[in-house]
Amino acid sequence: MIDEPVRLNDGYQMPRLGLGVWQARTGLETERAVSAALQAGYRLIDTAAAYGNERSVGRAVAQSAVPRSELFITTKLWNADQGYSRTLRACRKSLQRLNLSYIDLYLIHWPLPHAGRYQETWRALEQLKREGLVRSIGVSNFTIEQMNNLLMHSEVQPAVNQVEVNPQFQQIPLREFCYSHSIVVESWSPLGAGTLLTNPTILEIAAKHEREPAQVIIRWHLQNNLVTIPKSTHPERIAKNYAVIDFALDSDDMAKISLLDSGARIGANPMKLATTLPTWLVQLAHRFRLVHW
Ligand code: A2P
Repeated sequence: MIDEPVRLNDGYQMPRLGLGVWQARTGLETERAVSAALQAGYRLIDTAAAYGNERSVGRAVAQSAVPRSELFITTKLWNADQGYSRTLRACRKSLQRLNLSYIDLYLIHWPLPHAGRYQETWRALEQLKREGLVRSIGVSNFTIEQMNNLLMHSEVQPAVNQVEVNPQFQQIPLREFCYSHSIVVESWSPLGAGTLLTNPTILEIAAKHEREPAQVIIRWHLQNNLVTIPKSTHPERIAKNYAVIDFALDSDDMAKISLLDSGARIGANPMKLATTLPTWLVQLAHRFRLVHW
């Protein structure tokens, strides 16, 4: 059921639709977006140390009347903090910035294949889970091969792999692999960073259902069993993006959207992304929108 949370392989429940705050500016912009989302009914908020807006997420959460137990807060370990002891320290800093006593889902943000540290980093995530500082642990932007490496050599299996998925870049082999190993796939840039909102097929289906293009794409993600985190900083869009329970795409709509898969990424390629800018610098770069990952 689309309006019910998904059960992760560690037993925790995760909402299927959340708010992403990638590229939401530090300060009031993020704070207002998260507050608007919580008011609209969202319970999943997705941030990252790199985005520089964990403090703003924390402030909105603290001001909200929603009990902590109902919220599901995800953040991600920045590249420069990979490695066992750095990861343990970085997670504590994220907790401080978020003003939380635990994180619901902690992800390794990028695999950094050339650095070869993600296995050691994973050991630290397992330790953080044992300590109760994080509930679920997972990865982001991992390939099938990297997932296999973790599965073969780890005590705890990743609960989630958050990757770029949208109608233009559907990642079917990776999704099938994850589902066959009980790993939830969470789609980032689900609207193609906004670029798919004017796609003629999406517009046609939106007109047919008298819905917004964003709502059509969000339904496509949910009906494909994906957890998804569309980003918006406009309260009215945030509310509309969440109002997708009372209509459904039919098999004809789903088939038409499946034909949009061109295999072309819109976001960064995880096999190439190798940056290890210090956390403070990447946060500054995000503040001025100088980076797009
Ligand atoms: P904004 O934040 O100004 O509302 P993605 O989640 O794929 O990265 O897409 C995010 C982009 O899509 C942002 O530019 C966001 O703009 C835009 N967006 C999100 N929801 C909507 C909507 N309902 N209508 C129009 N644009 C939207």
